[in-house]
Amino acid sequence: MKGKSFNLRIPGPTPLTSAVLKAAARQMINHRDHEYEEMQKRIIGNLQYFFQTKNEIFLLTSSGMGGLEAAIVNFFSLGEKLVFFTVGEFGNRWAQIAKRYGANILQIKFPAGKSIDKDEVCRVLAENKDCAAVFITHNETSSGVLNDIKSIAPFIHTHPGKPLFLVDSISAMGAVNLPLDEWGIDVAVTASQKAWMAPPGIAMISVSPKARAREVHAKMPKYYFDLSLYREFSVKNQTPATPAVGVLFGLDKALSDMRKIGREKIFRKHLELRDYLRQGLRKLRLELFVPDKDASPTVTSIVIPQAIDYHHWLEILREKYGVVLAGGMGETKGKIIRVAHMGNVSLQDIKEVMAALKKSLQEI
Ligand SMILES: Cc1ncc(COP(=O)(O)O)c(C=O)c1O
Repeated sequence: MKGKSFNLRIPGPTPLTSAVLKAAARQMINHRDHEYEEMQKRIIGNLQYFFQTKNEIFLLTSSGMGGLEAAIVNFFSLGEKLVFFTVGEFGNRWAQIAKRYGANILQIKFPAGKSIDKDEVCRVLAENKDCAAVFITHNETSSGVLNDIKSIAPFIHTHPGKPLFLVDSISAMGAVNLPLDEWGIDVAVTASQKAWMAPPGIAMISVSPKARAREVHAKMPKYYFDLSLYREFSVKNQTPATPAVGVLFGLDKALSDMRKIGREKIFRKHLELRDYLRQGLRKLRLELFVPDKDASPTVTSIVIPQAIDYHHWLEILREKYGVVLAGGMGETKGKIIRVAHMGNVSLQDIKEVMAALKKSLQEI
């Protein structure tokens, strides 16, 4: 398949549109001059529209993990109790960051392929009146599970300890409805290479006034991800260090194009493609890893049929049919393969995936 363009259906980096590709390839500009400042201002305005928030948003030059680290070190101190409700590998990693920085973490794990159980959230929070914050992965990319943030939020907002509510929406925001202000999310993190259709290299983090009030008391060490520095520079629509200007060119174009389409239409497209794919996979008699009620609008996991070597399967899909899918991660490694459908994805792309799966299965 060398030389041919692949149908890249991994959960990030996602394919760029030709307009974004062109925008990202332009000549560099001075990141301290007016043209850059106008671009950053436009990006933040468009992100506030998609995040549905009036909160401040910062652009960090890093992959998504940098955003998750910033969400820990800026708001907490050594020994503070942080509660993580996790459903897979990315939830584990966020909890690991907090642990390494010396937080007193309480991680409540749910089985891979299932969403967070609300009753358990209610019980755990009632028993932990001293918790400083609650952390949830919106869309667990390693299994394709979407957590119901709206229904969990009230347990956090009525908690006597007034904990912060932090959400990793790295692989959902921009494709899935997450109205930050309406649902009271203090800190949300996402990354450029997912539903935003831009190259990898920029993490985005939003901070509510409640979270900001905690920043002054937070004692965890930080330098590169110190949001107070980002805030200082954001007054001028700049960043403290050199930003990934090329990535921002792409992100700026992608956001402008997405804004023209409108968020509701984009969210609807992702739900429709998910449902179409799931129906098609069932017709192929493939087993879905996640039940319908928890199914992610951006990533779909297929249980690897017995007696199939998934490395071989992925290789045939790629080399013969030009369809690039992902394997599982952590607990799901060797159990599932994943089809991503976020950002720049069409019905035709999904039809091609299904046709390739059908033919490859017949061959194997
Ligand atoms: C939910 C989630 N969290 C965190 C990450 C880590 O992001 P990155 O690989 O950009 O550092 C990912 C990446 O796939 C993710 O999907």
